[in-house]
Amino acid sequence: MVSKEKMVLDPPPEFAAQALVRDETLYRSASEDRLAFWAEQAESLDWYCKWDQVFDSNDPPFARWFVNGKLNACFNCLDRHTQTWRKNQAALIWEGEPGDSVVLTYQDLYQQVNKCANGLKKLGVQRGDRVAVCLGMIPELMVVMLACARIGAIHNVIFGGYGADSIADRINDCGARLVVTADGGWRRGGIISLKKICDTALRKCPGVERVLIVKRTGTDLEFMKGRDYWYHNLINEVESICEPEIMDAQDPLFILYTSGANGKPRGVMHTTGGYLAGVAATHRIVFDAKDNDVFWCTADIGWITGHSYVVYGPLLNGSTTLMYEGSPDWPERNRYWGIVEKYTVSVFYTAPTVIRSFMSWGAGWLDGRELGSLRLLGTVGEPISPEAWMWYYNYVGGGRCPVVDTWWQTETGMILITSLPGVTPMKPGSAARPFPGVDAAVVDGNGNAVSVGQGGYLVLRSPWPAMFSSLWGDTEGYKNLYWNKINGCYFTGDGAWQDKDGYFWIMGRVDDVINISGHRLGTMEIESLLVKHPVVAEAAVIGKFDEIKGQVATLFITMRDDYQDTPELLQELKDYVADGIGAIARPEDIYIIDEMPKTRSGKIMRRLLRDIAEGNVLGDTAAQEDEGVVEHIKERYRG
Ligand code: WTA
Repeated sequence: MVSKEKMVLDPPPEFAAQALVRDETLYRSASEDRLAFWAEQAESLDWYCKWDQVFDSNDPPFARWFVNGKLNACFNCLDRHTQTWRKNQAALIWEGEPGDSVVLTYQDLYQQVNKCANGLKKLGVQRGDRVAVCLGMIPELMVVMLACARIGAIHNVIFGGYGADSIADRINDCGARLVVTADGGWRRGGIISLKKICDTALRKCPGVERVLIVKRTGTDLEFMKGRDYWYHNLINEVESICEPEIMDAQDPLFILYTSGANGKPRGVMHTTGGYLAGVAATHRIVFDAKDNDVFWCTADIGWITGHSYVVYGPLLNGSTTLMYEGSPDWPERNRYWGIVEKYTVSVFYTAPTVIRSFMSWGAGWLDGRELGSLRLLGTVGEPISPEAWMWYYNYVGGGRCPVVDTWWQTETGMILITSLPGVTPMKPGSAARPFPGVDAAVVDGNGNAVSVGQGGYLVLRSPWPAMFSSLWGDTEGYKNLYWNKINGCYFTGDGAWQDKDGYFWIMGRVDDVINISGHRLGTMEIESLLVKHPVVAEAAVIGKFDEIKGQVATLFITMRDDYQDTPELLQELKDYVADGIGAIARPEDIYIIDEMPKTRSGKIMRRLLRDIAEGNVLGDTAAQEDEGVVEHIKERYRG
């Protein structure tokens, strides 16, 4: 730990000299008056009517930011820019995996969104309705989200890589009556038949009345008359202008499902006022947003990173945002660098797993690509090792670009721990300091701060504007899963420690959430699916360390008496998880065991299973019910 702490790099001087934020003033003003600081940030949005109170928490942990403020998210992302010189600036640069591309100016995007909003209305969508959006990374995904925001409907984007069960759970939980999908999506030269997967999901979703289909790949599909509609037909039948709805700051903008330690996906709800204020401020300050930037966040919009920093953050600030449909290694492992060169990307934001893949492929893949347009790099999603950080800094950034390691979550909506690129000395592997106005700490189980260098739980001691307002349909869960765990704090689920300079070093999840290639998955969600399979009696899913992906899913199962394990069965179980949850959850290894190792109180000993999976010396098994169970597993799998 000590040696890591010692490596400190100052922001490159050329960058620092031009940065929007060049000194500590923001930290100081925010610590003097946090609410005044956030109010000032919220001034960057256009409000139909200003708030009469910045923050109100009469009913903690529920909180209201910008009380009685009125605004519209889509108006803030589009309309106001079409009234300035930005009208003809690119809002979206999109590249499809096969190499096709689309550039939409702010005016173009405005027009498309207006039409789409009228189309949604024509299909009966009203203010407050939930719209499930299951699309790949195509421009229509952004258009549909903004169209929902325009008419006050709540979008629920469902990651295009999810399997049918995951999709159905999310549609049903939020009660969407309309689903937007596409005929297919491109992935590594192949087509993912999105509509087909949705059709399978929809057999379990009786509440869905209409399905809107975007044509992307020309894939054959079953068209259900009366239920299914083509997007291109619909938008040709509607008026071109749709007035934005005047929304309250507290009105939900979207729901995004994420995984937690319990089996059920959590419908994280974000508001209109606080979310937008927090995301606009962090996008501008952390990414040093400049007018001529081409901002590329590689995250899929199906995750929070895509919501906040592909769509809302950049558009609120009038930036040019880049979206790429496909995979980083298609058709070659230099695809990303080709895109950076082609569109002169200036700010690049990705995940450690992507950086580790590039490292393993070798720096030769960057040869011959002109990356001189890059001026700032970012990372998010999991802890980054100092080695991967240095590789990113040297090979991608050429030593010229600061790297911001940004810590945050679906629930936090916006970046909360990060360096400020023109100000903060960087320590590779540390996410640095809380953003101005953010009150993060490392505490013990009772909420007491731990000492420097000591590990503990990462918490937030005061609310922040883009905080989630609740869980959809589960206010008790909102209280109990996050706010009642540690006295007086929001509990993040992460472990961390702080060094003597106050830098945060994130150690990863301390609950049963696993992180596969930066994608957050609940082990319980996979387990609940598995026990529905006819051969499975009990299942435990473990995140096993993996060089590239961070973690991979490893399965331990006990079988029902009348089944034999065969190679075909193991394959079937892998497919079953991939079809139900999504390809990212596909288990790497499956261990069939006779009995689950459990504590005396009947809890599965996951740590022990993890040790077995990773081939570690078995830890303390004192709490173990039956030593024989462990012996048996060891014998069977470790020779
Ligand atoms: C992890 C993604 C270390 C963490 C925005 C968190 C990180 C979870 C970092 C949230 C980082 C995110 N360093 N770990 N810079 N950023 N994490 O909800 O475990 O998909 O709790 O949001 O990712 O994942 P989520």
